[in-house]
Amino acid sequence: MGRVSSACFISWMYFAYICSGFETTVEPTSESTAFSNLMENATEWMMDLTDIESKFSFRISEEPEEDLCYIVPGQPQTIKECNFNPDSKTFIVIHGWSVTGMFESWVPKLVTALYEREPTANVIVVDWLSRAQQHYPTSAAYTKLVGKDVAMFVNWLQAEIDYPWDKLHLLGFSLGAHVAGIAGLLTKHKVNRITGMDPAGPSFEYADAQSTLSPDDALFVDVLHTNTRGSPDRSIGIQRPVGHIDIYPNGGTFQPGCDLQNTVLMVATTGLRNMDQIVKCSHERAIHLFIDSLVNQEQQSLAYRCSSKDSFNKGMCLSCRKNRCNKVGYGVNKIRTRRSCRMYMKTRNMMPYKVFHYQVKVHFFSKSTISYTDQPIKISLYGIHGEKENIPYVMPALNTNSTVSFLLTTDTDIGELLMVKLLWEKDSLISWPWWNPDTFHIRKLRIKSGETQSKVIFRAKEGEFSYLSRGGEAAIFVKDKEAQSSRKNQRLHKLKMNGSSFKQNTE
Ligand SMILES: *[C@@H]1O[C@H](CO)[C@@H](O)[C@H](O)[C@H]1NC(C)=O
Ligand SMILES: *[C@@H]1O[C@H](CO)[C@@H](O)[C@H](O)[C@H]1NC(C)=O
Ligand SMILES: *[C@@H]1O[C@H](CO)[C@@H](O)[C@H](O)[C@H]1NC(C)=O
Repeated sequence: MGRVSSACFISWMYFAYICSGFETTVEPTSESTAFSNLMENATEWMMDLTDIESKFSFRISEEPEEDLCYIVPGQPQTIKECNFNPDSKTFIVIHGWSVTGMFESWVPKLVTALYEREPTANVIVVDWLSRAQQHYPTSAAYTKLVGKDVAMFVNWLQAEIDYPWDKLHLLGFSLGAHVAGIAGLLTKHKVNRITGMDPAGPSFEYADAQSTLSPDDALFVDVLHTNTRGSPDRSIGIQRPVGHIDIYPNGGTFQPGCDLQNTVLMVATTGLRNMDQIVKCSHERAIHLFIDSLVNQEQQSLAYRCSSKDSFNKGMCLSCRKNRCNKVGYGVNKIRTRRSCRMYMKTRNMMPYKVFHYQVKVHFFSKSTISYTDQPIKISLYGIHGEKENIPYVMPALNTNSTVSFLLTTDTDIGELLMVKLLWEKDSLISWPWWNPDTFHIRKLRIKSGETQSKVIFRAKEGEFSYLSRGGEAAIFVKDKEAQSSRKNQRLHKLKMNGSSFKQNTE
């Protein structure tokens, strides 16, 4: 409890920092009005390239942190001078609000990862640091002008060398995600893709689609939400979906490895100067998840469509039917649904972030009425490639003759599952020799794997039931060979995968 509230306190400090100046809302209203006028007459203002304040730094893989060459709108020779490759994709990276007025350390990391995945690409970093260094609300209002700058740059570049629109991918972090959205709205044609990395929440949660990132801003908009804690108007990251696909890793609120224990460790090792970095841990995780998807292709994370975080945590949403699951990050399948699609996933606390998701379903029989809440359970999974033992899980409710479904993850690939053990821990150290512990009878256990989509039934290792008693031995289950090899079951499974055709095809 103490740890959690301290972590909250630090977040609130950061938040207070962001919001300082909110009472005296300093929206540059004259600029906003100018902006809406400009929207009405796009052709005119798009001509005047001298207005552009943002700079476009063409980065190279050898020196990803250096501004060696700027492409300057209106100066076509700079395209050649920077060795812009007209046959390759272009990534335009847009930073967010800046405390220091300098590029943050993630920028060269993302540049490097983009070049690692796409060596011939053009990676351009937008520099709007002078406007990003203001009071948060002022910088937030500047996203419109910066978005306009980026749109003018893209329009100019496209026209100058007849560059294909479908090779343009904008990537924006925090306020930069909204800059990308506004840019996408103002380009002459839609760009191929915008990736929003934890788009900023304050000033944007209730704003209209024209002022924020939205699905209309590119052919495909994908968003990662990693720091959406608190009430919507106070959340650092925007809570509502703003893309075609909106992924909420670990529920989107708070990321593993970003808790105070790790934070204190980092303060101790890196010094207090990095305090703001530490507090932004969850916010920045969105970028690192994207970097992960670029460089760890063989450890591709999957996310699953789900109506709520709670259903996901019950393991109810591990289906891949009808595009219900998707790859996270760079390799996403560009599924465009009419409504924004919320997706969930769990991650490790460090790169590579991929975990393996399992739904476990158990029915607890008993002759007597037993009822518990918040029980500590340990689950061990044994597969053909390895095992993961004693995965802790707190069972919210454990009642006689009820079925429980929950989500379990492993950080390694243990392969096809062969055996499962369940252990019901005692939450108290006191035990009496004459005490007869409560015991459930379990006949079978069903496990569905999100990553392989396989469904396996496990039966008691010996006899009809395995017994799970509080503080007792582990209940052991083995893969039910009979059920697996049965042709009828396989066919039934296939039919079920086909959804609605199920009823027609069974006699
Ligand atoms: C838009 O710009 C064009 C070209 O400069 C001009 O002729 C026209 O009057 C402008 N329209 C508005 C509504 O300002
Ligand atoms: C639970 O269900 C079993 C089998 O249906 C039944 O025999 C048993 O009495 C039930 N237990 C309770 C407490 O109702
Ligand atoms: C499932 O649907 C597909 C396409 O609708 C069809 O080709 C296939 O035969 C179906 N499978 C079964 C087992 O009915």
